[in-house]
Amino acid sequence: MAKGAILGFCTLLAMYCTNTAGYDTYELRDFCVRLTTNNTALVRWFDPMPLRKEKQGYTLYYSKNLDDPLRNWTTVSLGVYPMTTIRDISLGEVYFFKVRINFWESDASGPLSGVHHFKMLNRTKSCYENTQHALNVLRAAATSKSTVEVWWKLQYDPYKVNSIIIFYGTSDLGPWYNQSAGLQNSVELYDLVENSTYFIAVAAKTDSGLHYFVQECSVKVVLEEVPLNANVTDITADSMVLEWSAPLRLFPKYYKVSYDALKDYVDSEGVRQHYVLDKTEIVIDQHLTSYELVDLMPYTNYFVNISAVPLDLSYRPAVRVKARTEVGAPGSMHKPVIYGIIHGDNVQVLLPKASEENGPINYYYLIVIPVSDDAERDVPSSMYNTEDLLNNDWFDDEDIDAPYIAAKFSLNIPYAFILGVGVHGGFKNHKLDMHKRYRLFVRAIVLSSQGMLVTDSPYSDYFSVEEKKNYLHHNTQLVTGRTF
Ligand SMILES: *[C@@H]1O[C@H](CO)[C@@H](O)[C@H](O)[C@H]1NC(C)=O
Ligand SMILES: *[C@@H]1O[C@H](CO)[C@@H](O)[C@H](O)[C@H]1NC(C)=O
Ligand SMILES: *[C@@H]1O[C@H](CO)[C@@H](O)[C@H](O)[C@H]1NC(C)=O
Ligand SMILES: *[C@@H]1O[C@H](CO)[C@@H](O)[C@H](O)[C@H]1NC(C)=O
Ligand SMILES: *[C@@H]1O[C@H](CO)[C@@H](O)[C@H](O)[C@H]1NC(C)=O
Ligand SMILES: *[C@@H]1O[C@H](CO)[C@@H](O)[C@H](O)[C@H]1NC(C)=O
Ligand SMILES: *[C@@H]1O[C@H](CO)[C@@H](O)[C@H](O)[C@H]1NC(C)=O
Repeated sequence: MAKGAILGFCTLLAMYCTNTAGYDTYELRDFCVRLTTNNTALVRWFDPMPLRKEKQGYTLYYSKNLDDPLRNWTTVSLGVYPMTTIRDISLGEVYFFKVRINFWESDASGPLSGVHHFKMLNRTKSCYENTQHALNVLRAAATSKSTVEVWWKLQYDPYKVNSIIIFYGTSDLGPWYNQSAGLQNSVELYDLVENSTYFIAVAAKTDSGLHYFVQECSVKVVLEEVPLNANVTDITADSMVLEWSAPLRLFPKYYKVSYDALKDYVDSEGVRQHYVLDKTEIVIDQHLTSYELVDLMPYTNYFVNISAVPLDLSYRPAVRVKARTEVGAPGSMHKPVIYGIIHGDNVQVLLPKASEENGPINYYYLIVIPVSDDAERDVPSSMYNTEDLLNNDWFDDEDIDAPYIAAKFSLNIPYAFILGVGVHGGFKNHKLDMHKRYRLFVRAIVLSSQGMLVTDSPYSDYFSVEEKKNYLHHNTQLVTGRTF
């Protein structure tokens, strides 16, 4: 091989140096053919030496009959990248190949290589298995009993390549599948068969077609390099515990846990909010196989990756677990607004809505407080215990002098509400006393495994039917939105 290379080198060198015709063959370096499917093959070689003239491209000639004149061989014109795929080949037959280099600024045909032959047998080994391509990596590892992550570091021109395509199959003659990875440098293959070995090849898709990379790899669908049995336990509103077991065939230098989260909720203005929380990465000692994530947000979907990092720190895929934190107390609310007298002696109020960032609200109570003396002013709404309020019951004509629940709303709380008529959610909306002063607040309730979680709105202004004080519509135009 060394001899051939040197010979080729001299031949070309002679040609370039003297720029004379006459030397019309040369030796390609590492010419190689590899079956990629049962009727296509990848053909690949290297230039014999650094070329001193600017290459325009190559012409590949191939034929099953060595004796045919060259003009009758199949020709493939390619650019400067010395690799192409040939199609419709017949398995089991011997093919002959020659390559011509074409140069710019040259009328004459460039030099033609000597002949190479190759029997289209079963799938052959990777081209250039022995050559070092440290810069180009293609690796794969199982991430579950039916999935494999493939990752790579390949050199290509991102302006010419539209996407990277992974081809995989369990045998040469069986079906081959493919999956596009865009311009990512990893992809997950799904629906694989446990314990099977898959062969993986990779190609770049460009406007001019597919260009296979010489790298290929194989992977057995067995969990060897990833943490095993990863799961999430002890979930609360702001924490969760991750557990896993050590990988089967990788001794980790450390574990890496990385998580992000998706928030999707309706805020207090009734607007849907949707965003991704920043990624957090944690390095965990090799001896540990559990870890508690803290300071999490309630009712949020967390996506957690756990990977074992090998001693050489090279990349390994992560296993993924996800979990949603428990609900938390309802978000804050605006102050209810007293809007005005309606139908003579009822009062219309504008009710707030709680933000659902910590979880959906199960229901709301509207709590009305008759104010008899000034002492009542300083009582925080939390002093009005829900249990006590639920136990209070009055007859229709009774004088109500204690706080009461005027309405219960499940799912949706109305924007505008009339105090003094009807029954709402099983609670009597008592007629207001003309001569009494009142104020009210809204209590939002979330039911969690820890019990009832409560958030109160601020108190409304004081109001009374008689005084007609503090009514918004005396001095303001109609409120149209939920933004007060
Ligand atoms: C080469 O191709 C030409 C035209 O296609 C054909 O006439 C000729 O017989 C072929 N020669 C051989 C040796 O097959
Ligand atoms: C492919 O290999 C298998 C087993 O190695 C062999 O039985 C079969 O004949 C081969 N096929 C061809 C086309 O050579
Ligand atoms: C090649 O493989 C396809 C399926 O991938 C199969 O349908 C076809 O029969 C195979 N051809 C030969 C010649 O084995
Ligand atoms: C990828 O697979 C699909 C479905 O099997 C097939 O239609 C398509 O031609 C394949 N793409 C390539 C580039 O081989
Ligand atoms: C895969 O191999 C393991 C270990 O040999 C075995 O326990 C398991 O049953 C196999 N799974 C399948 C689907 O063959
Ligand atoms: C969670 O993972 C740990 C460690 O792998 C394991 O011991 C435990 O049984 C798992 N728990 C569940 C519920 O899968
Ligand atoms: C988890 O791994 C997947 C696949 O590699 C990746 O797409 C995702 O961004 C990772 N998520 C985090 C939080 O690191």
